Amino acid sequence: MKIVKKILIVLLIALVLIQFYRPEKNNAEYRDVASFEKETQVTPQIKAILETNCYDCHSNKTVYPWYAEVAPVSYFLSDHIEEGNEHLNLSNWDSYSLKKKDHKLDELIEEVEEGEMPLTSYTITHGSLSNQDKETIITWAKQVRARYNIK
Ligand code: HEC
Repeated sequence: MKIVKKILIVLLIALVLIQFYRPEKNNAEYRDVASFEKETQVTPQIKAILETNCYDCHSNKTVYPWYAEVAPVSYFLSDHIEEGNEHLNLSNWDSYSLKKKDHKLDELIEEVEEGEMPLTSYTITHGSLSNQDKETIITWAKQVRARYNIK
């Protein structure tokens, strides 16, 4: 048997075997962002943008696509979700200090302005934010920061 064929068979077996291991899912019973949305006066329009573009990695509940069931993609997604939530989990908004909230919104404006968020790996499958959406979300974040009024 040729070496290439052997390697391919080993890889195939490995691919089948890793399907038995699944990363833990970010799936709380419901997406707990009510408190965040209330405090920051999220309008239905902003809610729609956050739901389609951000909550999957920045809340306690991800809506997983079918391919998230397939390893190694599942691990790739799981890493992003975990890391995203480590930096910003909007389900934990209440636990942030006012200063931290203000800082996270400042980061949010920057990330969206520069097109860093959502991650490219996400926009490939979910579509990017339109310029209109970016503007809407940045204006909202700036208004919230103005209300927090941290000097
Ligand atoms: C596919 C997962 C994913 C999606 C979707 C996503 N993010 Fe992120 N986000 C991350 C990861 C991972 C990090 C940390 C690494 C980095 O900053 O690049 C992060 C970091 C951030 C930070 C920085 C927080 C800090 O303290 O530095 C902000 C703000 C943010 N995201 C906002 C958003 C917004 C707003 C959206 C939607 C428009 C969004 N993200 C969509 C994964 C995601």
